[in-house]
Amino acid sequence: MKKVLLMAIAFCFTFATYPAMADPAAGEALFKGSAKCKNCHKVTAKKKVGPGLAAVVDRAGEDWIKGFLADPKAVWTADEGYTKTLKAAVERVEKPKPKHKTKKLTEQQISDLVDYLKTLK
Ligand code: HEC
Repeated sequence: MKKVLLMAIAFCFTFATYPAMADPAAGEALFKGSAKCKNCHKVTAKKKVGPGLAAVVDRAGEDWIKGFLADPKAVWTADEGYTKTLKAAVERVEKPKPKHKTKKLTEQQISDLVDYLKTLK
């Protein structure tokens, strides 16, 4: 009995101390709601204002997307790695600023959004 109790406590402790557990459902709600991603992006391969986001995590990589969502202008200006591929794909190689714009997102919101983007195949 004591063992079970200890295990239960350990279990609760593990989750209570895990602040950044990403949540794809929360990401989807943001995408379609307050973060307004849906105004510019479809979740299929079809272009809207920005590229269709199907399989975007496979082509761009999780780390690049996190950086871009946190500070699009900085990533655009740094012009490294996947940024070059994206600029070429959207034919905006010489443009000084990205057209992609979002309100300031927290780290948790970015993790949730990326977990949602991972579900887009
Ligand atoms: C005002 C329109 C607009 C909004 C709002 C917007 N984006 Fe974008 N996004 C773009 C455009 C346009 C690009 C292509 C790069 C560029 O020109 O800025 C892009 C690029 C991207 C890319 C890279 C796509 C690829 O094919 O590699 C990702 C990922 C992305 N956006 C995610 C999001 C998410 C998540 C949100 C919501 C938090 C969002 N965007 C909100 C317009 C927008």
